[in-house]
Amino acid sequence: MAEKKGAVPGHVNDEFYQISGEILSSFPKYRPPVDLFRFRDDIMVLEPYCKKESRLSNEQVEELAGICAEGDLFVSRADHHIYAAHIIKQLDLVLQDQNLREAEIADLCIRALVMRFSEFCEQPVKPVFDPLYRDLLVTTEYIFADKHRMNAFMRRLFRKHDQARHAVNSMTVGLWLWLQGVGDVRRKDMDRMAVAFLMHDIGMCKVPAFLINRQGALKSEERDKVNLHPVIGVKLMQKVEVSFEELLRAGYEHHERADGSGYPQKIKEAQISRVGRISAVADSFSAMISARPYAEAKDMLLAARELAADRRYDAETTKLLFSGLAAGDFGQFVDMDANLEKS
Ligand SMILES: [Fe+2]
Ligand SMILES: [Fe+2]
Repeated sequence: MAEKKGAVPGHVNDEFYQISGEILSSFPKYRPPVDLFRFRDDIMVLEPYCKKESRLSNEQVEELAGICAEGDLFVSRADHHIYAAHIIKQLDLVLQDQNLREAEIADLCIRALVMRFSEFCEQPVKPVFDPLYRDLLVTTEYIFADKHRMNAFMRRLFRKHDQARHAVNSMTVGLWLWLQGVGDVRRKDMDRMAVAFLMHDIGMCKVPAFLINRQGALKSEERDKVNLHPVIGVKLMQKVEVSFEELLRAGYEHHERADGSGYPQKIKEAQISRVGRISAVADSFSAMISARPYAEAKDMLLAARELAADRRYDAETTKLLFSGLAAGDFGQFVDMDANLEKS
């Protein structure tokens, strides 16, 4: 694509996205889902080219490809919601698009992961796992290139609860915590950690919703059923042919506690792996800051403080989370629930 930035007036870059060839070719060819604009170099003006959903002729399709190749094709940021709904279905486009901002990319990755995770929860089979995994790799590729991008994800934790939001929150918090403690990050390790944190609670998909959402205390046989979810989750992942050490540990160990009061294995302290200890903190923190049927969403700093004071959790990990939040490292938080509902 031609580099136009020098020639295009500043306000254009703020109010419009330049459309790349990849994105154009991902639109329905004859019926673009957004209003398209053409930049006229001669008069330095963006003029409307076609309205969304209008039917294009063969000649127009060809002309459009030419305009795009010149770097003169734009979409208005006012159409961001349509554009976003489109792009989350083909998330790898975010890696090619030079015109999306960091905040927009984090938003798109998170929304794609929520969508894919929900689909997998409903139908936990390999062909539905594959697109989830693919989008997760897009996300880790994006973060890997610049670890500071992780903060844009931390600013976007959900405060409403469902399994997909919980999974994505846990992945974000888990990955951030993990990254704090490793010097040289290997991409492969990061990918494995992301899968492990995202899928730690996948066994909950098999637990009936009425048990998960029950307000009062569970009967002991009901509690037993819920407490099986770590084991069920690991089995489920083996069925879709995804099984490696970090994933097993996150699945089995996220409810283990340093004093041996956890489940299912009741292991203690150093018996719990690092990924298990981080999963426990990421999981509990994500649960505490989200509104559930039986508890209100806690303030993030308060939740982190409570975890840091709780000796059953790994002190080093809880301290990291608390100090990151207390220092305001992540910047201004974003209402991610509203973003999700807008789409
Ligand atoms: Fe769990
Ligand atoms: Fe969880």
